[in-house]
Parts: sequence; structure tokens; C-alpha cells
Amino acid sequence: MEVLVTGGAGYIGAHACKRLFERGHRPLVLDNLSSGRPEFVRWGGLIRGDTRRPEDLAACFAGRRIDAVMHFAAFIEVAESVAAPLKYYANNVGGTIALLEAALAHGVRLFVFSSSAAVYGDPETVPIPEGHPFRPKNPYGRTKTVVEEILADCGRAQGLRWAALRYFNAAGADPGGEIGERHEPESHLIPRLLEAAARGEGPVFVYGTDYPTADGTCIRDYIHVNDLAEAHILALEHLAAGGAGGAFNLGLGRGWSVREVIDTVAGVTGKRLETRDAPRRPGDPAVLVADCRRAMELLGWRPAVRNLEEIVATAWNWHRGRPGACAAPMARENDAPPHLHRR
Ligand code: UFG
Repeated sequence: MEVLVTGGAGYIGAHACKRLFERGHRPLVLDNLSSGRPEFVRWGGLIRGDTRRPEDLAACFAGRRIDAVMHFAAFIEVAESVAAPLKYYANNVGGTIALLEAALAHGVRLFVFSSSAAVYGDPETVPIPEGHPFRPKNPYGRTKTVVEEILADCGRAQGLRWAALRYFNAAGADPGGEIGERHEPESHLIPRLLEAAARGEGPVFVYGTDYPTADGTCIRDYIHVNDLAEAHILALEHLAAGGAGGAFNLGLGRGWSVREVIDTVAGVTGKRLETRDAPRRPGDPAVLVADCRRAMELLGWRPAVRNLEEIVATAWNWHRGRPGACAAPMARENDAPPHLHRR
């Protein structure tokens, strides 16, 4: 299939493009390069453009028969979404509406969307099934919720066949070392720890030590980025074969606390990591663990990487050759945790 991949120059989108290519599909990337990297686009063409610009969308469809869309392009920083909600609604929701209009006008009926565990907020039950109510706690999560509702409406009205893949915590890097995780600014736990290990700098703050968990820190379900990529290909082929769409959780179905992640990174890198306990980060649920049975049963998805050591090892392999991969400076000794800085 000829697949338009928005955000294909980003972390997860680039891994999906590689997997599409390996599976004999043809990715075409649309990316405005606001956070994506042109050097990550290696498995198909790149159109530098924005989902909100009709002329950029027209350039994607002109002279091509696009069979399907994978839509990764979005802003992803929860804290920024709280401070600048309209930026998030305009891009994540507005951009998706424009993309859907163009795709449907060109006869595309297959659509795979990057959703998030952020649609659940503080879950009532763990592991979380897809039928759990939407309770997003921030504008970022609300943009994902709204888009899922839009997809369902387009499915009913226009025959769109869609899958919303709800990622838990994406981590790791392509073992081939060609692509990896790099955000600016970097807010994610594992790349921050790896950067601290690579540079020998710290501290990395532990946001919250009084959660109702065994060691008091938050628990997350980490999933290797290549297993996420694989789920996209399976979802696409499943939809193309007439399979049922809808939402699919993607995680390993088990959780690791922040302290367990720190210990794992220290073990894999062999470095001493300086960490410091800090107040909770606003908006963090205590525990997020996925119930992934739907993806396993309907898509035949089986995560290949099933332990955190291996996930971290692939990320370290990518990171260690690139000190400074995270552009954000490490906090200095007397700095407040970044989320307490005044903007
Ligand atoms: N954490 C720290 N110190 C840090 C960074 C993170 O203690 O320097 C903690 C967080 O408080 C959280 C855990 O580590 O408890 C994981 O944090 P990440 O920022 O790595 O990941 P999140 O669980 O916050 O984010 C994930 C996705 C987001 C998505 C969010 C929705 O990466 O894109 O889930 O819930 F928006």
C-alpha cells in the first residue's frame, strides 16, 4: 500500500516508516519538521508541510493513489498543552480535520491514528481496558479524545475504517541504531536518565514519592517503539482486510515504577545516576498499565521485547553515541524541578 505518514520524521512515525518499508509498503512522509528530523526519513519520500495547510495536503495526494493514512503528527507535551491549549486544539484537532477532509475527498478509507493512554486520566481499573470511560486530565488528552470521536463519526457517516492506537509509554530505539528518541525539550523519564548517564550529569528529579504504590513513585507500562510500529502495520492490514476497527491499547500489560526504571537504567548503562526526590508533577496518574487483549486477539499483535532491560538497552545503544541527543540542559544542583520553573 501507498501510505501517507504524517509526522513520519518523528520518533514513533520514523520507526513505523521503517517497518512499513520492510513489509513491502511505500511510506510517504508529510512532516513540518517542527520537531521531526529529516535524517529520520529514510524509507520513502518527504513532503515538508503541515496538516493544517490545504496546499500541503494537496501536494501529498496530487498524482498519487494513496491507499491509507497513518497520522502521527501532533504536539505531545502535556504541560505545554495546559499552558497553551489552543495551540494543541488547533494542531491536533484542526490538523486532523483538514487531513481527514483531504483523505476522504481522495477516496482514502483506511486511517490509523496515534492515540494515547492520556484519554483515560486517572483510571478506575488497572489494567485499563479500552471500554474504560474517557477522562482526560489535560488538553493534550482531550485532543486525542476528540479525534477518536471524530473518527467514529466519520466511520458511521463516510465509511472510514479507522484504528486509534492508544500508546502507553513508548520507549527504546531501533536496534539498528538508525533512529531513536529525541525530543526538545526532553521531558520523558528514560531519555533524561540516559542523557544523565551519557554526560555524567544530574540530578534527574523523581516527581513524586508519596503515590499509593509500593515504593511511592508512579508506575508506567513501557513498550518498545518497534512493537508500536509493528502494531500500526498489523492494524493497517487488518483494516484493509475488512477487520473491525476502533481503539486498541498498546503496552506490555505490566508496570515499572520510576525507581525501578532508574535502577534498570543504572544497570544497563553501568553508570551511577544522581537523582533527587521532588514534588509530584501536576497531572500524573499514579498507575497506568494497559489491558492489551484486544490488540492481541484482533490484530494478532505480540510484543517482541518483553522486558525493560532490553527496551533500555536499545535506547542506550542509540543514545551513547550521541551525547547531547537531548538538547535540554540537565538541571543544576540547586535548580527546582523543571515543572516548577515559572514560564
Ligand atoms: N518522571 C520523573 N522525572 C522525570 C521525568 C518523568 O520522575 O524527569 C516520571 C513522571 O512523573 C512519570 C514517569 O516518570 O511518573 C514517566 O514520565 P514520562 O514523562 O516519561 O511519561 P508520561 O507517563 O508522563 O507520558 C506518557 C507519554 C506522553 C503522554 C502521557 C499521557 O510519553 O506522550 O503518557 O499520560 F502524553
